[in-house]
Amino acid sequence: AATADLAGRHVVVSAGGTREPLDPVRYLGNRSSGRQGYALAATAAARGARVTLVAGNTELPDPAGVDVVRIGTAVQLREAVLAAAGDADAVVMAAAVADFRPSEYATGKIKKKDGQEPEPVTLVRNPDILAELSADRPNRGQIVVGFAAETDDVLANGRTKLARKGCDLLVVNEVGEHKTFGSAENEAVILATDGSETPVPHGPKEALADTVWDLVAGRFAATADG
Ligand code: C5P
Repeated sequence: AATADLAGRHVVVSAGGTREPLDPVRYLGNRSSGRQGYALAATAAARGARVTLVAGNTELPDPAGVDVVRIGTAVQLREAVLAAAGDADAVVMAAAVADFRPSEYATGKIKKKDGQEPEPVTLVRNPDILAELSADRPNRGQIVVGFAAETDDVLANGRTKLARKGCDLLVVNEVGEHKTFGSAENEAVILATDGSETPVPHGPKEALADTVWDLVAGRFAATADG
């Protein structure tokens, strides 16, 4: 968009994958590239917003004009997002947050021992940051946006997830072996709590980002009028 329709707004975007350490040299991770979240941060800055980007693992350079906070684990992501969300007008959770982390962290490198089977890795749940943010909004009128990657029954699962998470908008993508993760392009449907569905055709991640900000800006305008 050519207009600075997000001027005077503070928006928080999370991006990239978390890494959940097993020991000082190993982690459980995921294939998120961070590109969709970085596109959201860059487009919000271009539309005049003050942007805090909470970035997990990614190889992307910091976008110009954006405050970047680097994190590793889901627990660190939660701390950083909640701290930044205090005065935020909108929070967009595009990060691929690990649902589970190893229950124990070995302070020394885990070693193989002759003649012994490896110890099993046990996992515990990570906090659901999107659900927590949606439930405890520090500002009246704060808009919270989530992402959902689904492999089947995309819209039905998306509706269920929108309700369960309690966010205002949910960007639902169909994922598969060659879709979405790591790609420069995306295709999605954005579900809203008012029942609306906004399809976003296959295209650059910046185009999807602009559509998300259009919907967020529309909700700011509605709040100001009401
Ligand atoms: O439950 P699921 O992982 O499919 O939900 C995806 C959405 O929830 C994304 O917006 C992601 O950033 C967010 N999420 C979160 N905390 C978690 C897991 C996912 O905020 N522990």
